[in-house]
Amino acid sequence: MDENGSKESNKLKIEEEESDLKVEVWKYIFGFVEMAVIKCAIELKIGDTIESNGGSMTLSELSSSLNSSPLLLHRVLRFLVHRGIFKEEKATQSYSQTPMSRLLTTTGPNSLAPIHLLESSPAMVAPWHYLSACLKANDHENESQPFELAHGMDLWSYASANPSHNKLVNEAMACFARVVILPAVLQRCGEIFDGVGSLVDVGGGNGTCLSILVKACPWIKGINFDLPHVVSGSQEYEGVQHVGGNMFDSIPKADAAFIMEVLHDWDDEECIKILKNVKEAIPKKTGKVIIVEVVIDENEKISQLSDIRLMMDMIMMAHTIKGKERTNVEWANVLQKAGFSHYTITPTTSIQSVIQAFP
Ligand SMILES: C[S@@+](CC[C@H](N)C(=O)[O-])C[C@H]1O[C@@H](n2cnc3c(N)ncnc32)[C@H](O)[C@@H]1O
Repeated sequence: MDENGSKESNKLKIEEEESDLKVEVWKYIFGFVEMAVIKCAIELKIGDTIESNGGSMTLSELSSSLNSSPLLLHRVLRFLVHRGIFKEEKATQSYSQTPMSRLLTTTGPNSLAPIHLLESSPAMVAPWHYLSACLKANDHENESQPFELAHGMDLWSYASANPSHNKLVNEAMACFARVVILPAVLQRCGEIFDGVGSLVDVGGGNGTCLSILVKACPWIKGINFDLPHVVSGSQEYEGVQHVGGNMFDSIPKADAAFIMEVLHDWDDEECIKILKNVKEAIPKKTGKVIIVEVVIDENEKISQLSDIRLMMDMIMMAHTIKGKERTNVEWANVLQKAGFSHYTITPTTSIQSVIQAFP
């Protein structure tokens, strides 16, 4: 090939690569479409309706049952079928559930719909528009935070002032605990609860998590500790006592403390303060704190789980004041400064690890 020929072939190769990359970028540009259409399907209860009608429905049955336009519904379903979320039988134009759509019904035992409804709610989407402004501010003394810029207050004050958002938050957290995290924790390290007579769940939300733990380990007397507006509306569970308070003031005493997906909402200084109060709440010689959180490994091979861990870190940046997902070194720092003498980290099959720390 002469020089001109080789230049031409290089140019074609670059153009081909760019064209593939453009498709990648289109996916990022329109990334919100998936979130929005899935939210629409959950709100319409498409999956629940198909499930309660024997698992398969024609377009006309579904549209009359949902009281929605068949033309619009067809387009929404065409998109969701293309994503593999529902299945379509072309000959009869009927739609059926898939394992994926079952995860997005509102009533399925393993439904993740509450988390989707929280993350796609206007209140949680608004802070993302302030992310770059926060990074540009570059003022560490008076860091402006995306959630505060969007709503004039932090997430927990916002939830306290808005009962419907409080419900969304608590249901999403309970779902995350029930469907995603606890099964993974109990599967990998259920024995950590052996011999624990009483357990305080710090920032335990509406108590769903502790109720599951107490059911799995009936010897445990559970204390569900969270902000007063969270526990006041919580359901009663056998073996679980709800206590309202502020973990920055003091934490009810117990043999061991459990703290799941709470410390990542706070900066190091606040974390140390919470952990010091946890340490006060457990016996010096025999006590332990069981922390369930993401541990970021910056050298980890790229995988779907590592990707979700990094997404969680971005969510912490958008939704909390100074929260973050921590690396092993960052965990060591806060635990040591809070006065814990040693700790162990056990990965689970989910994105979180179990960190056990001892006074
Ligand atoms: C991300 S949620 C985790 C809930 C629960 N541990 C779970 O994983 O399902 C954080 C929890 O911390 C609680 N929280 C926030 N500030 C608190 C405080 N000052 N004292 C006690 N709980 C607090 C919130 O109300 C919320 O329930």
